[in-house]
Amino acid sequence: MTSAAAPPSSATARVPAKVNLDLRVGGLRPDGFHGLSTIYQAVSLHDEVTASFAQDWGVSVRGPLADGVPEDGTNLALLAARALAAAAGVTDPVHLSIHKEIPVAGGMAGGSADAAGALVACDALWGLGTPREELDSIAAGLGSDVPFLLSGGTALGSGRGEVLTSVLARGTFHWVLALSDRGLSTPEVYGQLDRHRDGGSVPEPEVNPELMSALRAGEAQALAESLVNDLQGPAISLRPELGDLIEAGVDFGALAGIVSGSGPTIAFLTATHEAALDLAVSLTASGAVREVRRVTGPVHGAHLVTGPRAN
Ligand code: C5P
Repeated sequence: MTSAAAPPSSATARVPAKVNLDLRVGGLRPDGFHGLSTIYQAVSLHDEVTASFAQDWGVSVRGPLADGVPEDGTNLALLAARALAAAAGVTDPVHLSIHKEIPVAGGMAGGSADAAGALVACDALWGLGTPREELDSIAAGLGSDVPFLLSGGTALGSGRGEVLTSVLARGTFHWVLALSDRGLSTPEVYGQLDRHRDGGSVPEPEVNPELMSALRAGEAQALAESLVNDLQGPAISLRPELGDLIEAGVDFGALAGIVSGSGPTIAFLTATHEAALDLAVSLTASGAVREVRRVTGPVHGAHLVTGPRAN
């Protein structure tokens, strides 16, 4: 006996965090954003976003790092779902359940990741098959990092970060992430950078060719020598202990440590998987940091893991 398949009732997308290997910030633009040139890398720390049909629009957040994420209409993932619905003329509300592993306000684009995950999950649940350029354009309207979290891998971001060009990266890089108890506000860190610059002229941000060749060769040591983040000084001036943490990680054997995006997460690059294990143990045992995560990059951007399916 055969029975008709039940209509799908949920879809789940998995979406990575990012680190910036090179983050060069240009001048403040009239729209309040800064022009930038950045090399993003997606790393294996993931949130999951499940979209399910519901009576009303809503969002709930669970997982070890769920604290502080809004569960109301200001949640960026919910805004993403509604933006896609508006663009596609969809009127069926969804409830989003987010499992959060990416730190909040940590400089790893956790909120942007959830927005990218919501776009992929809702697109599947509603059966839209939205063309990629259209998803990218909705993503860019939601936040500077959202298009990158859709694509993943390693990419050059320009404009305010939303204009992407893929970058050739060979092999796998091993990172240890040192998480902070308290987040840092991205606008505050950019504001601190502007204060440091004190209205002086800012050169057009450019890509560092040495970093590109380190990525092409898959050489961790060369990459470590090329890591640059213009937001690192401002982040450390707001949180001086981050400077000490970077020094501690290098003393414990990291090839280099860098503030991730606007911080306060510190990303330590190590030579091998074993070196990452050793560093994670040393950092934790020393009490220098409360929580660490070992991750690798690059990894894929937002992708469906289940569904649409019937529950
Ligand atoms: O685009 P997103 O919502 O992630 O940006 C958050 C804030 O970070 C912006 O409101 C702005 O203050 C700052 N920002 C910036 N220049 C960028 C990206 C972000 O000044 N290129």
